Amino acid sequence: MSVQWFPGHMTKAKKEFEKNLKHNDLVIEVVDARLPQSSENPMLNQIIKHRGKPHLKLLNKSDIADPKITSQWLKHYSQKANTLSLSVSAKNKKNKLAIKEACFQLVPHRGTSIKPVRAIIIGIPNVGKSSLINLLTQRKIAKTGDVPAVTQMQQRIIVDDDFVLTDTPGLMWHKIEDEMQGNYLAASNIIGINAYDETEAALYLLDCLKVSYAAELMTRYDLDPNEIAQPSEQIIEKIAEKKRMLLKGNQPDLKKAAITILQDYRHQKIGMISLEKPNDN
Ligand code: G4P
Repeated sequence: MSVQWFPGHMTKAKKEFEKNLKHNDLVIEVVDARLPQSSENPMLNQIIKHRGKPHLKLLNKSDIADPKITSQWLKHYSQKANTLSLSVSAKNKKNKLAIKEACFQLVPHRGTSIKPVRAIIIGIPNVGKSSLINLLTQRKIAKTGDVPAVTQMQQRIIVDDDFVLTDTPGLMWHKIEDEMQGNYLAASNIIGINAYDETEAALYLLDCLKVSYAAELMTRYDLDPNEIAQPSEQIIEKIAEKKRMLLKGNQPDLKKAAITILQDYRHQKIGMISLEKPNDN
């Protein structure tokens, strides 16, 4: 089953974004540090490039991503022209200063009370954009939560007298074509629960974990090297058996085991995990 995700207001939001870009000096793009490629919107990158606007890429949720992989992503983005990248966490108040400084560096001709830096902030739903806005303003302006796309229209926010932010709705693809990307987004709780199949998302997650985080996987579920060398379907089965998640007739409850694996990943019970590396591109 492929991951389907069609929030209706996205086309309108894209047009509005293009219109607003003209009145802003730079674009702040928020992605999830655990999957920076799948959580960016390729359509938006084309618009930014076309308009030639400076671009600040924020790898948010770095507090739960694998720090070694996040460093590799920062190195990767440092090769892009007109772009700066930062690893941040909306949970860390100290990040406000670093974000502002990066914006001032990208737009050196602005940054005073007469000519404030004007930044437009974008990101697909659930990457933590609202949480970052709240961090920047140090008050609760943007609603945060697990319901994707809570920002319905653009709003201008005065962060400081030298820094103004335009918030945008959480833009998303019309359809996620790549099954792996869709399932990584699902595993990472970025797309709505009705849009994916938990067992399939857990299978994609296990495919990644057994290659990149084999030791962590074995420790968490008491598996041996032979067991994690099996196809992921069999690993889920093993985990269900070990955890006594059984249906009638002692059949392993694969769905229950899949949900447990997803929750364990989301709550860092397996470790600090990143699903994508820059050389996967
Ligand atoms: P959005 O505007 O991009 O849609 O995202 P939002 O800020 O609503 O954040 C989505 C979820 O991600 C929230 O979790 C939020 O707390 C969490 N989050 C945001 N930034 C970070 C971060 O830097 N690190 C971590 N670990 N989590 C982050 P939630 O479960 O919906 O709410 P909550 O109870 O955790 O606040």
